[in-house]
Amino acid sequence: MTAIVRTSWHKAEVVANHRWTERLLSLRIRTQAMPFKAGQFVTLRLPVVVNGQTELVAKSYSLINAPHEAEVEIFYNIVPNGRLSNALARLVAGDHLEISQPAKGFFVLEEIPTVANLWMVATGTGLGPYLSILKTAEVWERFQQIVLVHSVPQREELLYADLIQGFARKNPQQFRFVACVTREANPAGLETRVTTALASGALEALAGLEIKAEDSHVMLCGNHNMLDDMKALLAERGMQRHLRHKPGHITTEQYF
Ligand SMILES: Cc1cc2nc3c(=O)[nH]c(=O)nc-3n(C[C@H](O)[C@H](O)[C@H](O)COP(=O)(O)OP(=O)(O)OC[C@H]3O[C@@H](n4cnc5c(N)ncnc54)[C@H](O)[C@@H]3O)c2cc1C
Ligand SMILES: NC(=O)c1ccc[n+]([C@@H]2O[C@H](COP(=O)([O-])OP(=O)(O)OC[C@H]3O[C@@H](n4cnc5c(N)ncnc54)[C@H](OP(=O)(O)O)[C@@H]3O)[C@@H](O)[C@H]2O)c1
Repeated sequence: MTAIVRTSWHKAEVVANHRWTERLLSLRIRTQAMPFKAGQFVTLRLPVVVNGQTELVAKSYSLINAPHEAEVEIFYNIVPNGRLSNALARLVAGDHLEISQPAKGFFVLEEIPTVANLWMVATGTGLGPYLSILKTAEVWERFQQIVLVHSVPQREELLYADLIQGFARKNPQQFRFVACVTREANPAGLETRVTTALASGALEALAGLEIKAEDSHVMLCGNHNMLDDMKALLAERGMQRHLRHKPGHITTEQYF
């Protein structure tokens, strides 16, 4: 029987808030973090002034750090006029915020059936949970081939490249990374949406692997339009959402 742990708010201190581009940042915080599973998310909370009134605003963010790493890290983008993301972007080292504990969510390996090939498809900051999962030993033990696909508008948003190259160097036969850059040239990868690349065959050609219902599971994380469009394309291959009571081939985490 699994014990039910109530969610509570914990104080956290900002270690660093690194700005990669005008709208993409990584926040590292120190807190008394409870154990979690790679792929889960926390809620961050801050007082924010909205229409002259101070409100506590709370939003969910995936953990990028692996369960064995003590420092909490999240990867986020500033949403135009977004209440919490703009407030988070103003934080500097030494500032405080609140974090929910324990982390929660079902976008975790435990919820994925064991098959030969695991596809991890992200738009934007939807890359985050995959980085945590790829830092664990379990993913490399359970799947024969792993393909990480990251779609961003511009090349400068292809972040965490060193970490991703490290996964590739350590697992050259097992891991492929495919970058889809949709609003400028991308000589090193694809220049279309992941959906267009799946429909044309370009995605599987570049990855050197087919997506088939018999041996593949697809994780999708990010914008709901990508999730919907990918699910429709995968349905044409007989692939359905995976549920505990009805095994399938697709697991999703919708950010917005
Ligand atoms: C389970 C889960 C995990 C999440 N993990 C992350 C994460 O790791 N990193 C991250 O950046 N975001 C993540 N999000 C989104 C995050 O919770 C917030 O919605 C986002 O930061 C916007 O909050 P805000 O208060 O600034 O915007 P709001 O004031 O709430 O404005 C919301 C508006 O912005 C749109 N919007 C929301 N999120 C985004 C986005 N990321 N990009 C563009 N438009 C958006 C919404 O559709 C809405 O129209 C996650 C969401 C969920 C549900
Ligand atoms: N500087 C800025 O403020 C700035 C910069 C970029 C984007 N934006 C805007 O901010 C919003 C969010 O952009 P974002 O980049 O953070 O997140 P996003 O909309 O999720 O885009 C991230 C990636 O996902 C792709 N994508 C979006 N919808 C898709 C779908 N249905 N199927 C497959 N791929 C899809 C995008 O391609 P496409 O590029 O083809 O959409 C892009 O490569 C958008 O409205 C965008 O126009 C603002």
